[in-house]
Amino acid sequence: MFIAFEGIEGAGKGTAAGRTAGWLASLGREVSLTREPGGSELGLALRALLLDMKNSGISPETELFLYLADRAQHVRQVIRPALEQGRVVLCDRFACSNLAYQGYGRGMDLDMLRRLNDWAVGGLWPDLTLVLDLEPAVGLERAKRRNRFLGLEQKEGRFEAEDLAFHTRVREGYRELSRERPDRVRLVDASGGEEDVFKRIKTLLLPMFSQGFTPCAPPGSQTTKELVDET
Ligand code: TMP
Repeated sequence: MFIAFEGIEGAGKGTAAGRTAGWLASLGREVSLTREPGGSELGLALRALLLDMKNSGISPETELFLYLADRAQHVRQVIRPALEQGRVVLCDRFACSNLAYQGYGRGMDLDMLRRLNDWAVGGLWPDLTLVLDLEPAVGLERAKRRNRFLGLEQKEGRFEAEDLAFHTRVREGYRELSRERPDRVRLVDASGGEEDVFKRIKTLLLPMFSQGFTPCAPPGSQTTKELVDET
């Protein structure tokens, strides 16, 4: 099972993916938690290039190919081998980020991006993509605060420096993608506290993971909501 976590800056993907990993491990699943850009050794070097403020002059085409290079290596070196071992793979960002940021954000042709990504991932797409949906102004403020706190404003701030209109287009892009493929791309309300968001995610995922695991009660005795509240 391959699940991607998506959303604008500061939507809380990293936290949500981490908590989901812990929860699934407690249900007895082997879990690999990874991210893009930077999920492989080569990817870490590409992440540094992609996010550093000193590369603000990078062309959109160069940016696209660096993300695709990161993804191609990540799929082959990390994601596919983990899936072949029967692990659940949780990925903080994947190809949907490319459609949202380079497509809706930068205005690149979406069909071209779909074809390039399909080639880069060798046809390996997530079973499910969860989009943490949040007001861009709220997310952006949160992301900038986090970067300040961690001293990452220069090294990781290139996208936070984009204006609100860019982040609004990215958010609308994600919403459009979820309307196009409601079976594969699900919106999760990311407003409120971390705990509220995590509960919403568990409610969505529980039907996929409850079968055969101890938290699963006999049919009819407990609702999904009760199971989520307990675990
Ligand atoms: P993050 O991992 O801290 O969210 O930062 C990654 C940044 O890279 C984020 O601003 C979104 C951007 N991005 C793209 O523009 N295209 C992509 O394909 C991916 C994976 C990320």
